[in-house]
Amino acid sequence: MTPATETMEPPTVSTGAAAKIKNVGVVGCGLMGRGIAQVAAQTGYKVRVHEQSEDIFKKGLGAITKSLAKGVERGKLDEETKTKALANISYAGSMADFADCDIMIEAVTENIEVKKAIFKELDGICKPECIFASNTSSIPISDMAVVTGRRDKFVGTHFFNPVPIMKLVEIVRSIDTSEETFQTALDFGKALGKITVGAKDTPGFIVNVLLVPYLIDAVHQLEIGLASAEDIDSAMVNGCGHPMGPLTLLDFVGLDTTLYIADIMFAEFKSPHYSAPPLLRRLVNAGYNGKKAGRGIYDYSSK
Ligand SMILES: NC(=O)c1ccc[n+]([C@@H]2O[C@H](COP(=O)([O-])OP(=O)(O)OC[C@H]3O[C@@H](n4cnc5c(N)ncnc54)[C@H](O)[C@@H]3O)[C@@H](O)[C@H]2O)c1
Repeated sequence: MTPATETMEPPTVSTGAAAKIKNVGVVGCGLMGRGIAQVAAQTGYKVRVHEQSEDIFKKGLGAITKSLAKGVERGKLDEETKTKALANISYAGSMADFADCDIMIEAVTENIEVKKAIFKELDGICKPECIFASNTSSIPISDMAVVTGRRDKFVGTHFFNPVPIMKLVEIVRSIDTSEETFQTALDFGKALGKITVGAKDTPGFIVNVLLVPYLIDAVHQLEIGLASAEDIDSAMVNGCGHPMGPLTLLDFVGLDTTLYIADIMFAEFKSPHYSAPPLLRRLVNAGYNGKKAGRGIYDYSSK
């Protein structure tokens, strides 16, 4: 028998399949959830966002407000779009508030058990035609879809950080994702002004399977004393023309998130490529998760 993944058509792009999406639900208002909520609200969708507490949501909304204000300052958007975008975002105090959403995008911590519990709960609340999308960086989509009764309506929508600026969304198709769901997700990504690429449901998809070994190798080189963090970054910026060095990028992405991704890819592929260096684990265990924590490879506490 031919494996199902081998029979998948190469990703193609359609027009207008996402027209039925009006209400967008987002779970998680951290780095990614808030960016996704902002972009969807800017595009004109009504967006409801759930967090572990209203205080965390408010912190995220504060960051969205700042990001929109920066956009106005730089002439990227007008004041009216900013006002409308903010008016489009509301807090979902409970999952029941997502009952009439057309697409649910989950952007919580990279932990399969947490994500599965959320999708299981949502499955009993959301209307049957609602599409479920995960922003996971590395967890197989099908491993989450199994807890729902809508495996065909489950897809990966992997946005990049910072969402309002980065153009790419990887649309990930599991062995059960229907053609209709896949096309709707591609079109939804395009409606948000993004460039979409289709990817198979393997940990890391396209970008992280290539990027994470590079990031963790930079930590390994720092650990074994190849050069200082500043010099490793400077080498890649000035020698290779990268916009930022790997250690700065790691602080930006989040050391915790990168470690979770590396561990998931290592568990799947059992390749030393994805084996996290001890220094990365020590930093994460100490809470030095990067820029968002005020300290990662670099110290941001004085900024
Ligand atoms: N950071 C990146 O560069 C990046 C890029 C692409 C994808 N991702 C993926 O996006 C997801 C989120 O990453 P992030 O960087 O935004 O992490 P983050 O730590 O900034 O935010 C995660 C948020 O999820 C919330 N949360 C946890 N459990 C919850 C629950 N049960 N209900 C509601 N909210 C809950 C937390 O309070 C937190 O605010 C992860 O799956 C990650 O792999 C991250």
